[in-house]
Amino acid sequence: MKKNRIEKDDPLRDGYSRVIDYLRLSVTDRCNLRCIYCMPVEGVAPWRHVEILSYEELTRIVGIAAGLGVRKVRITGGEPLTRKNITFLVESIAKVAGIEDLSMTTNGVLLERYAQELAGAGLRRVNVSIDSFRPERYREITRGGDLAVVLRGISAAEKAGLKPVKINMVPIRGLNDDEVEDIARLTLETDWQVRFIELMPTGSLDFWSPDKYVTTDDIRKRIEAIAPLEPVKVRSKGPSRYFRLAGAQGVIGFISALTHHFCSDCNRLRLTADGKLRPCLFSETEIDLRSPLRGGADDAEIARLLKLAIEVKPEGHTIGSRAEKGEAPGCGTSGAAARKPMSRIGG
Ligand code: 5AD
Ligand code: SF4
Repeated sequence: MKKNRIEKDDPLRDGYSRVIDYLRLSVTDRCNLRCIYCMPVEGVAPWRHVEILSYEELTRIVGIAAGLGVRKVRITGGEPLTRKNITFLVESIAKVAGIEDLSMTTNGVLLERYAQELAGAGLRRVNVSIDSFRPERYREITRGGDLAVVLRGISAAEKAGLKPVKINMVPIRGLNDDEVEDIARLTLETDWQVRFIELMPTGSLDFWSPDKYVTTDDIRKRIEAIAPLEPVKVRSKGPSRYFRLAGAQGVIGFISALTHHFCSDCNRLRLTADGKLRPCLFSETEIDLRSPLRGGADDAEIARLLKLAIEVKPEGHTIGSRAEKGEAPGCGTSGAAARKPMSRIGG
């Protein structure tokens, strides 16, 4: 049942009774890869340094959000490890009272260099995006990435205690979906949490088409054709459903971004690198925090804006059903927001 207001002692529950305790911070829109579904080959003209929030501003927002009940923070990008002195931000956020879990989504290219110091600064875990475990194909999808470097980065992360490593894989029909079974089998020998994510109509829209995305139901069927999957309970909340192959150390997750099981478990708010709160990945609604922050707003005002973002969080999106019908993707009024690259929203 929709409630119109957030009651006082009910701090971070949205209008659909979802508890919001997770904040994703995009710290840069720059990236050192150019994945074909995410960015155009020439990249996107990056925001200037003054346009993106400073580490002090980000840490202040996290402190206020923690006071409202946020317990988990994830640092994303673009590629967060391309931002200078990122360890300093990790250290500052890790010290914020109330933050129990601090993680990062990275493409892993710079992990080998930074894993140890990130762990020392208080980072708990990393999600690494790998859409192919075949070096040539990885290079093609990322437009130039070196898989060996990323795999060494994962080893460094594990050695530093950033475990378990989550691997994000986006299957694309005809491009890498034939690897789904092999990638699932990696959980037999590793404690990785391998997550398959449906390709969303964000970013390079000239790339996305309804025949390219593979549903998680389909991926699950393909895996079950080689071995049964048993459901497992994983402590983390959120949109992923987890399973295990018999005898496996690791687990397999499915993120049905388009088809189902997604919005009703949404526990998150996003902040773009230029300081806009985005209640929903697929909605155009954004609440600007940068101007008030720089205009001298006090903590109470920032808290009010955070609560407002939660109040206006939509119940869900219709991108999946539209995509299945072959209609143009996008939700809300024009779909323009859905077209923003993930590097600008923070995946
Ligand atoms: N669809 C699905 N996942 C995407 N990501 C980036 N763009 C898309 C998209 N269009 C993923 C990346 C990474 C995470 C941050 O978001 O692969 O794992
Ligand atoms: Fe949550 Fe909106 Fe994303 Fe659905 S589309 S998961 S409601 S943020």
